[in-house]
Amino acid sequence: MTLQLGDIAPDFEAETTDGPISFHKWMGDGWAVLFSHPKDFTPVCTTELGEVARLKPDFESRNVKVAGLSVDPLDDHHAWAGDIAETQGHALNFPLIADPDRRIATLYGMIHPNADDTFTVRSVFIIGPDKKVKLSLTYPASTGRNFQEILRTIDSLQLTAKHSVATPVNWRQGEDVIIVPSLSDEQAREKFPDGWTALKPYLRVTKQPRG
Ligand code: BEZ
Repeated sequence: MTLQLGDIAPDFEAETTDGPISFHKWMGDGWAVLFSHPKDFTPVCTTELGEVARLKPDFESRNVKVAGLSVDPLDDHHAWAGDIAETQGHALNFPLIADPDRRIATLYGMIHPNADDTFTVRSVFIIGPDKKVKLSLTYPASTGRNFQEILRTIDSLQLTAKHSVATPVNWRQGEDVIIVPSLSDEQAREKFPDGWTALKPYLRVTKQPRG
């Protein structure tokens, strides 16, 4: 069955380029991004993994650990790491999971047989400290992902987990947000003492809450 938002992200043991991990234990109390790529020694994947290595400080500052995965064996991951460092200028600095028996890929529905029955697609799962799936994305092999967008969604997820707000289209950290419709005006006055602008009764825009 497809893994859906709100489901517990399945726990697993895996061999990785950083040694064996037990996924939930490795996550600890923080957030995680688990993403798959189709295959080692392929061009788009090489650029993606270099970019994730470059952005590692941005994930860390948000208390997010990142792990990649493909169905290639660990020896291939280690051999490919040299190419990533050489061509992208950023060495692998996060665990790359080897899943040659497709055990984890199957648990997470990362193989879409009607697209390709051999390789994982470009899946992304953002998992919260409660180990629940907060967001999932699926891209085809031919389209590299935008990891800035993934950071942006993490900012939204972390903000909306704390405050009774939602983030509008194209929102970025620091911009105005929307008060959730489930909050009455009376309840909103308590939570947002500086007020809001009501463009419609259901569309109340306010400053991004801090903290
Ligand atoms: C790539 O990473 O470049 C790639 C991988 C599998 C199929 C197509 C492209």
